[in-house]
Amino acid sequence: MNSEKQKHTTFSLLAPLVRTYLTPYGGQVAVALLFMVIAAGATAAFAKLLQPVLDKAMIGVQNDPESVHVIIPLGAMILASFAVRGISTYISTIKMNKISMSVVADIQRDVFAHFMTLDLKFFHKYPSGQLVSRVTNDVSVMRVAVTDSLTGIGGNLLTLVFLVGVMFWQDWRLALLTFAIFPFASGLVAHLGRRLRKISKSIQGETANLMEVLTQIFQGIRQVQAYGMEERERERAGEAVMSVRNLNIKSARIANLSTPINEIMVGAVVFGVIVYGGYRIADGELTPGGLMSFIAAFSLAYEPMKKLAKLNNSMQQGLGAAERVDEMMKQTSSVLQKENAQILNVSLPSITFDDVTFGYDEEESHALNHITFTAEAGKVTALVGPSGGGKSTILSLVLRFYDPVSGQVMIDGTNIRDVTFASLRRNMALVSQDVTIFDDTIAGNIAYGLAGATGDQIVEAAKAAAAHEFIEKLPQGYQTEVGENGVRLSGGQRQRLSLARAILRNAPILLLDEATSALDNESERLIQNTLEKLQKDRTTLVIAHRLSTIQHADKIVVLDKGRIVEEGTHAGLLATGGVYARMYNSGLIDSKE
Ligand SMILES: Nc1ncnc2c1ncn2[C@@H]1O[C@H](COP(=O)(O)OP(=O)(O)O)[C@@H](O)[C@H]1O
Ligand SMILES: [Mg+2]
Repeated sequence: MNSEKQKHTTFSLLAPLVRTYLTPYGGQVAVALLFMVIAAGATAAFAKLLQPVLDKAMIGVQNDPESVHVIIPLGAMILASFAVRGISTYISTIKMNKISMSVVADIQRDVFAHFMTLDLKFFHKYPSGQLVSRVTNDVSVMRVAVTDSLTGIGGNLLTLVFLVGVMFWQDWRLALLTFAIFPFASGLVAHLGRRLRKISKSIQGETANLMEVLTQIFQGIRQVQAYGMEERERERAGEAVMSVRNLNIKSARIANLSTPINEIMVGAVVFGVIVYGGYRIADGELTPGGLMSFIAAFSLAYEPMKKLAKLNNSMQQGLGAAERVDEMMKQTSSVLQKENAQILNVSLPSITFDDVTFGYDEEESHALNHITFTAEAGKVTALVGPSGGGKSTILSLVLRFYDPVSGQVMIDGTNIRDVTFASLRRNMALVSQDVTIFDDTIAGNIAYGLAGATGDQIVEAAKAAAAHEFIEKLPQGYQTEVGENGVRLSGGQRQRLSLARAILRNAPILLLDEATSALDNESERLIQNTLEKLQKDRTTLVIAHRLSTIQHADKIVVLDKGRIVEEGTHAGLLATGGVYARMYNSGLIDSKE
């Protein structure tokens, strides 16, 4: 009933996946398949051997004790069939598991690599818990599906085919009778499979939601405790847990519905076989051994049939997850590198905004309107203005986290859209408002600024950022682990680490977004010196509130509501008596917001 609504057919989803991810393992798949054929053959051989066992070794020996010599060879052949089946099943399963684990790892790497190509807009749209869930949880569900199908389809299908062959060999009329019932069973299985896939997709969605809720709560644990929201968060997490539980229960109910239905059908078939087969023996058309072998083949075929039905379930669940992963792989970045992008090579560049307009969302009002200004080469340009005025957005555009809606950003006259991301960003060091500290050592965090930095360089950068002293006092010095988001550090210490990171980068363009806002006066004075030295041979764009930082700037650009309202030097702007002068006189500039 819902087959029309389904966007993807099983095949259209499966085919590209197989093509991309299974092809590299073609040789190994072939080996595994070979062993599956051997295992299936051994199973069928066992079923077939039951006929001579019963007719010759049992009934035959009962009628004619002389023929007792056939017992041992027949028994040995049965033993051999089991041994061959066991060993080759083991080999093929191990091989297939290895292949499926590799395939899943390949997919995980690809999904993550794809995320790394996407722009900030994407990351703002999908919260981090969601993305973690897509790489881990969805892909795990796919792993189960891939493992089950690779180990299951080949082996079970082959075994089934061989056993059905034995059944037809023994008595084709009986076999036809048995399989008349099949279309009903397979139609039912397909229907259940479709429902499962839909539910599985919802389960993945709810699981992602759960992870998202948990990530948020853990990251904001200080706020949760400070505001006494534990109870509310417990309820929120509880709700997310329960909706995953409820969907899982529903899924289990549907997945297992095939069991009672199948059992009843099989009972009916065995009943029919015994009755009809008994009459055929009475007519002399079939030996007891033949019927025995037939029933054995059917009983043995029942297992793979059941497994194939279950396999459809796990495959459908996997496809639900695959659809979600596919959705991510189809995301594209709105900020793209040109194919013939040049390498940006500058030593002391100017940065020019030429009539730049930009908005975070198409619908909403623009965060920047017709911004035109130049940050002169080797000079310090300060961006000032009320919160929300668009200061941080300007830095984001310089880094090309986003592209302007109209106008252009130029470095030394080159539109930054014409150069490679790597070369553009190599020329910049950013100290942002929200300092990011990775769960690594102090040294590792500073070294993030420059690949392959030496220990001496790291210490030097830390000294310049007035961080060396506090680092030395930590239990393991530079090797101290700082915890997620640097929770073991104070705000000022985190800021000094991120300054050290920027200093180490030694890039010609310095972007400082309230880089000293979390510092006490003492460390600020220390860093101010460093920053002034640092700014000497660089082009600096600085966002600050403190008078000390602003008044020494070569140029001050005043932003309000996404527009430039004033531009000039400290003294010049004070003399004009405009917005800047009002901010200055009301003490707004010196405050930390
Ligand atoms: N990621 C974002 N998505 C949507 N709107 C944003 C985003 N970041 C900032 N804004 C909006 O853009 C405007 C300018 O923000 P911002 O540049 O951060 O201001 P400032 O740094 O001057 O305080 C604000 O109105 C803010 O709400
Ligand atoms: Mg800001």
